[in-house]
Amino acid sequence: MNEPLTEAAEQIARLRRELDEHNYRYYVLDDPQIPDADYDRLFRQLQALESAHPDLVTADSPTQRVGAELSSQFASVQHAVPMLSLSNCFDEQELRDFDGRVRKGLDLGDSAQCLDYVAEPKLDGAAVSVRYEHGMLVRAATRGDGQSGEDITANVRTIRAVPLRLRGDDVPPVLEVRGEVYMPLQGFADFNRRAEQAGEKTFVNPRNAAAGSLRQLDPTLTAARPLAVFFYGWGEIQGWQLPATHAEILKRFKDWGLPVNPLIKKVQGVEGCLAYYAEMAQQRPTLPYEIDGIVYKLNRLDWRETLGFVSRAPRWAIAHKFPAEEAM
Ligand code: IVH
Repeated sequence: MNEPLTEAAEQIARLRRELDEHNYRYYVLDDPQIPDADYDRLFRQLQALESAHPDLVTADSPTQRVGAELSSQFASVQHAVPMLSLSNCFDEQELRDFDGRVRKGLDLGDSAQCLDYVAEPKLDGAAVSVRYEHGMLVRAATRGDGQSGEDITANVRTIRAVPLRLRGDDVPPVLEVRGEVYMPLQGFADFNRRAEQAGEKTFVNPRNAAAGSLRQLDPTLTAARPLAVFFYGWGEIQGWQLPATHAEILKRFKDWGLPVNPLIKKVQGVEGCLAYYAEMAQQRPTLPYEIDGIVYKLNRLDWRETLGFVSRAPRWAIAHKFPAEEAM
C-alpha cells in the first residue's frame, strides 16, 4: 500500500471510530447495527492498514487487544480504595432488618418515608477493578484480599466489552470502575464442549471459568474465552464532582461506553426490593448468565457516607441471595 501517510492516518482513524461505535452499540446499548461479518471486514481493513503503517498503531486501537507478551507471574496492585464485599441476607425478614438498620443510621427510624434503592442482579463471576487515566485503560486488577489484587491488565484488555478508551470529552482524569467479569452460559457450554472433545480440562461452573480465564499467564488464551463484563461500582476517582446518586453514576458509565446491566432498576423501599427479587427469580432460568442473588444499594451517596462500613462491608448495601440451586 502506497497511499500518502495522511490519507492512511485518516482512514485508520475513521475505521477505529467506526469499530468503536459498533462495539458501543453492541455491548452498551445492546442494539447492534451491523452483522458480525461486516464488523470483521472493517476490522481486517484496519489490520491491513496498520501493518502497512506500523508507526500509526496505538495502544487503544481495536486491533491491539491481544498483546504478545507472556508473563511468568502477576504483579501485585494496591487498591487505592479497598474492594469490599457485601453482607448477605436470605429472607424477607433479614431484608427488613437491613432496611431498619439503614433508617436508624439515618435517623429516619419512625418516619414513613421509604428509601430509594438501586436493585442489581448479583452476577456470579470475578470482580475486577479497571483504571482509566484521561480515558485510556491503564490497569486492571483482581479483587485479591480487597486491599491488593493481581495485575491482569493484559487479560482484561482482551475482553471486547471492556473499552480500551472511554467515549466523550467529559471523562474524569482518573476513573477506576469496578464490576464483574463473567462467562455467559452459552459460551461456557461451548467452551466446555470443545475442551472435552480435545481431551482438555473442563470448568466446573461459569464462575470458575471466568476467574480461571482471567488468571491465564498467556493473554492469547484469555482472548479465546467468551468473557463479558458489567460495571456496577467505582474506586478512586479524581477531578470529577460525583453526582448525588448511584443511578446517575451508572448512567454516566454508559455514556462513557462502559457496559451496565440493563436489568438494573431503581426501586422504593423494602416492598420495591421484594417485587424486584420476585421478578428476577422468575427471569433467572432464562437469563443468559448465572446470578446468585440481588444486590440492593442505597441510591443517595451522601447517605452512604453517613452510614459507612462495618468490618469489610458497606452498611448501605446488601446481597439478597437466592436459595442455592439443587443438583447442578
Ligand atoms: S457491589 C461495596 N454489585 O459480589 C460493594 N457486587 O459479595 C461491593 N457482585 O465482590 C460490591 N454483582 O464480585 C456489587 N451488582 C453487584 C454485584 C456484585 C456481583 C459480586 C462482587 C463482590 C461480591 C460481594
